[in-house]
Amino acid sequence: MSVWSVDPEWYLGRKDGHPDLWRYVERFVCKYNVKSMVEIGGGHGYASELVEQYTGIERSHRTVEDGRRRYPQHTFLHDDWITMDTAAIPRLADLILACAVVEHCESYEAFISRALSVSPGAIVVSFFRGLDRARNEFHKRTSADTEWSEAGGVYYDNFYSRNQLTQWLDELGCNWRLDQAGGDTILVIQ
Ligand SMILES: C[S@@+](CC[C@H](N)C(=O)[O-])C[C@H]1O[C@@H](n2cnc3c(N)ncnc32)[C@H](O)[C@@H]1O
Repeated sequence: MSVWSVDPEWYLGRKDGHPDLWRYVERFVCKYNVKSMVEIGGGHGYASELVEQYTGIERSHRTVEDGRRRYPQHTFLHDDWITMDTAAIPRLADLILACAVVEHCESYEAFISRALSVSPGAIVVSFFRGLDRARNEFHKRTSADTEWSEAGGVYYDNFYSRNQLTQWLDELGCNWRLDQAGGDTILVIQ
């Protein structure tokens, strides 16, 4: 199914680093027999190589265009996860994935609540800075024009606390766990 395991160069070539995270994602897909995925902030859509059905939601129009070019068999929606109408999201996806995205959104509560509302499947959210702060910290920024952002757009550079996150998840009554892959802490809700 996947070229990832047999091609270590593929991991090394990823611009964002985080090879351990992507090995983790690949293993998760294999272990739980994931066939369909919704990816939030999936950039160029590389994770679509792991599954049969893929819907990517991205607010960077450049990466959406690139994803559509690379993977014409899959769906790439140019939208903002926090504000979009989720009616267009497949309800029966096996997995909702978000890697290195939640730190750039206004709150993880909105981010994860929306994922819970659209899918009965698994949710995997990587916190690429870990969860080592005593309290959640929110840093609002105005973006430059980069691969991941558009000039003048608003984004966040947040840091999160493990205690605050897990307390909130317990209050929601979620079945959650935290895994580790390299420097990324990974929240899994199943
Ligand atoms: C650091 S990049 C990570 C890209 C990819 N997930 C990876 O790990 O290679 C963060 C991505 O999330 C996207 N993003 C951030 N907030 C978003 C939101 N609210 N809705 C959709 N995409 C978002 C950005 O446009 C950017 O492509």
